[in-house]
Amino acid sequence: MKYGFIGCGNMGGAIAKALAKSTTDFAITDRSGKAIALAAEIPCGYLSTMEIAQQCDRIFLGVKPHMMKDVLAPLQAVLAERKPLLITMAAGLTTAQIAEFAGCEIPVIRIMPNTPVAIGKGVTQYCCNDLVTREMLGDFLYDMRFSGMLDCLEERLIDAGSAISGSGPAYVYLFIEALADGAVTCGIPRAKALEYAAATVIGAGELVLATGQHPGALKDAVCSPGGSTIAGIRALENHGFRAAAMEAVIATYNRNKELGK
Ligand SMILES: NC(=O)c1ccc[n+]([C@@H]2O[C@H](COP(=O)([O-])OP(=O)(O)OC[C@H]3O[C@@H](n4cnc5c(N)ncnc54)[C@H](OP(=O)(O)O)[C@@H]3O)[C@@H](O)[C@H]2O)c1
Repeated sequence: MKYGFIGCGNMGGAIAKALAKSTTDFAITDRSGKAIALAAEIPCGYLSTMEIAQQCDRIFLGVKPHMMKDVLAPLQAVLAERKPLLITMAAGLTTAQIAEFAGCEIPVIRIMPNTPVAIGKGVTQYCCNDLVTREMLGDFLYDMRFSGMLDCLEERLIDAGSAISGSGPAYVYLFIEALADGAVTCGIPRAKALEYAAATVIGAGELVLATGQHPGALKDAVCSPGGSTIAGIRALENHGFRAAAMEAVIATYNRNKELGK
């Protein structure tokens, strides 16, 4: 079998959905059996962890970072014999640590995805160890082509990339919810407020990418002198919005570093 997923929860499940748009030659597994329903929905196979190690040529590792060592320990002999490509998404764990947990020299691609990959709008940074061939990487990127943006990043920067795009959807959800709360306070019905807020975030983000303009310039363009938008910007600045966003990224980065220790 081409791909396997050991751990298929929020992040692994989102990647499995993106991968299914290019191949269904894969199987997933988890601990509790919750992923059996996901396998039927995708559809793809459901195997045991050992069966995935024995049968799959490329294995996504979708378990939490602190579980990785214990999950790979019983698979060491079969991994050493077969040398499948391992694709880790674990925050904070390096390609060298994954190979160490696997107990052998083995090709490892480290990815840092985010959950919008499930709808083809994700951001995924990746790096590889020396055993990943050009063909392996090319084939992997091709199979992941329906996941959204895929960008090569030096391994030393992956924790920082993770702090903006891996965890970023959570910050953006908070922002959307807060915008909607403000609008509800001003009388807009909740459902409409959420829809307006989410669509505005998408539109503004797409405008940044499409025009290549600095966000500060785009902001200036919608703030007329003495107008209402600049009054809103002033309120955000007064409440430390810019500093709060910076601190969120830095706090996540520092926590990623701790997870790898
Ligand atoms: N969530 C994100 O936005 C995000 C973004 C970037 C990277 N990541 C990384 O993605 C990884 C998974 O995070 P997540 O948020 O998807 O966590 P999650 O939803 O808790 O999923 C973890 C998965 O691992 C399975 N699992 C746990 N122990 C296992 C075992 N012994 N054998 C087989 N499967 C096992 C779980 O199965 P059960 O449900 O049955 O316990 C579940 O399917 C983490 O390393 C995280 O750093 C996450």
